[in-house]
This record gives sequence, C-alpha cells and structure tokens, in this order.
Amino acid sequence: MGAKNGIVSLVIDVGGLDAQDRERIEKDVRSALARLNLPDLRIAMTADREQSSRNASTSVSYTPASSYTPASGSSVPRLLAVGSGKGGVGKSTLAANLAVAMKRAGVQVGLVDADIYGPSQPRLMGSEGMRPTAREDKLVPVRGVVGIPMLSMGHLAEEGQAIAWRGPMAGNALGQLVDAHWGDVTDLVVDLPPGTGDVQLTMVQRFKPAGAVIVSTPQDLALMDARRAIALFEKVNVPIIGMVENMSGYVCPHCEKVSDPFGSGGAENAAHSLDHPFLGRIPLTLRLREDSDAGAPPAAGEGDIARIFAALAGKVIAFTNADRPGVDR
Ligand SMILES: Nc1ncnc2c1ncn2[C@@H]1O[C@H](COP(=O)(O)OP(=O)(O)OP(=O)(O)O)[C@@H](O)[C@H]1O
Ligand SMILES: [Mg+2]
Repeated sequence: MGAKNGIVSLVIDVGGLDAQDRERIEKDVRSALARLNLPDLRIAMTADREQSSRNASTSVSYTPASSYTPASGSSVPRLLAVGSGKGGVGKSTLAANLAVAMKRAGVQVGLVDADIYGPSQPRLMGSEGMRPTAREDKLVPVRGVVGIPMLSMGHLAEEGQAIAWRGPMAGNALGQLVDAHWGDVTDLVVDLPPGTGDVQLTMVQRFKPAGAVIVSTPQDLALMDARRAIALFEKVNVPIIGMVENMSGYVCPHCEKVSDPFGSGGAENAAHSLDHPFLGRIPLTLRLREDSDAGAPPAAGEGDIARIFAALAGKVIAFTNADRPGVDR
C-alpha cells in the first residue's frame, strides 16, 4: 500500500485464488476502506497469467503475468524508449508528440506508457476513458490521436485512478502492455517513468529497447540526472539515439519576448561532450502545456512546435533506418 499526491494505492496479490474469491476479497477490502473516507483510493488485483486467461473476457480489471515472456512466434515491435533521470522534464510530452510526428512521417508507430505508477499518456493522447479489450490472453490497444494504437495502465484503471505495483509487478504489468496485439506496428515509443533506480534498470534490461531518447531541461541539475539516465542505458548496451533539450527558452505569450528560465544550450553541450547526438530543442510555451492537457498534441497540428517535433521524429526515424548510430552528430 502506498500514498502519493493524495492518492492511496493498494496492490493485492490474488494469485492462486478463483474469480469468486478474488471478487469477495476486493469487495471486503473496498468496504473496509470506505470507512476511512479516502479521497482517491486505487486498488489493483494481481494474479498469474494462467489465472487470468481462464477468466479472460473483455478485460478491464487487470491481472499482470507473473513474468514477461513474449509468446513464441510473436513479433514484438522495435522499442524506442524516452527516458530522463529527473521527473517532470517532459518525457511524456515528448513521447506523445514524437509518436504523432513519426506517424505523420508514415511510420506504423504505437505508444506504450511504461509509467505504471503515474500514467499520463491517456490524457496526452486524448484516449482517457477508453478500455482495451483482451484477445487470446493479450491486450488489444486502444487508439489515441491520429489513430495511434496505445496502451497505458491508465486505460486499465478506473476513471481518475491509477495503479501502484510493487517493483517486480511493475515489470510484469509492463510486459503485458508491450506484448500485446500491435498488428502492423513496427515501432513502439515507450514513455518511461522518471528516475534511474532498480525499476527503470529492470525495465530496460528486460525489454531491451533498440534505442533511447534522453530528455533534459537545460540546467545543470537536470543534466546531471540526464547523464545518469544515459549511464543506465549504456550499462545494458542500449544505444542512445540522442538528447533533447526541453523547456529551452520561454516564449512570453504576451510580448513574445524569449527568455531562458532554465538557461539554454546545456543539453546540447552535454550531448556533445558525451559524444551523443543532439536531437533538438523544444521551447517552453504555454500552448504546448495547454494543448497537451487537452489531449491534442501540438505535433498533430501545424506551426512551429509541430515542425520542431517533425524534425526530431526525422532524426529518430533515421536512427531506426540506419545501422546505428544513424543520426547527425
Ligand atoms: N516545452 C514545454 N512547454 C510547456 N510545458 C511543458 C513543456 N514540456 C512539458 N511541459 C509541461 O510540463 C509538465 C511535465 O511534463 P511531462 O508530464 O511530459 O513530464 P515527465 O517528464 O513525463 O514527468 P514525469 O516524470 O512525472 O513522468 C506537463 O504539465 C507538461 O504539459
Ligand atoms: Mg511522464
């Protein structure tokens, strides 16, 4: 059980129990906790995969597999991770817009929200409230903006809720998001949770992305974290596609004057000094935040921001097309 940002999350391991017992436990726990009047209570029931397949129908309540083993013969698309050492630097915003820009460039792209604890992709991609179904023991992705197939724990929890998993369970849950019915998707953009701890390391080790995009804001502290994130990927031989500097230069919506609240150029310098490609700079703009919150990624529209994401996507696509490293340095 855990609490974060006013949200109380509870994970119950119901492995080995039949559906009736699971339902009874959930009901009992809910009614016991109802007395506490918690503003936002989220309950996740976990069980092993065999259990869930026996009861599989059109699934909403979620039961992660006990381990991630893609079915033999199943082809998992290439994974492109978006990571950062630090939280709140714009990973999710970048992942959503990168996926949209790649799709616009003609790539069969999908999106996985690997932030099991704090999923944000349903909101960013305008797919809040959608529910994936399950077929042959695997999830069928929902469709976000511009028809991008996507999966997030946010689609599997009830409205306004999220799910907390213990470390190993988070990996298992992610396994089912990745090993899903992706159809003709060739590239899966994966929005990673913040940090460079065991959870992230296990995820990266297990799913072996083909490459990683590192997001950082320009200031020193964030850059130190970005370096940590790079080290994490390098430790498990995941190539760095490049670094993106987010919130770089603030365009005032009133006077259009550009200022640099977090400095500027830091990520580019760091990329060069670490000998990694620099993929681009995304300015801090009110519109980007507003459109993101409204589930309308600006990469899907026209204008400067869309062009910036298109250029960025072009570099990521070059990486996937080339024998890496394939982007300009
Ligand atoms: N370039 C930008 N301009 C304005 N707002 C931005 C920009 N990039 C991100 N934001 C806003 O900053 C907040 C954090 O962004 P986001 O959720 O993408 O970060 P994150 O790194 O995924 O966070 P977390 O570590 O919590 O997963 C969001 O409200 C987002 O809309
Ligand atoms: Mg995020």
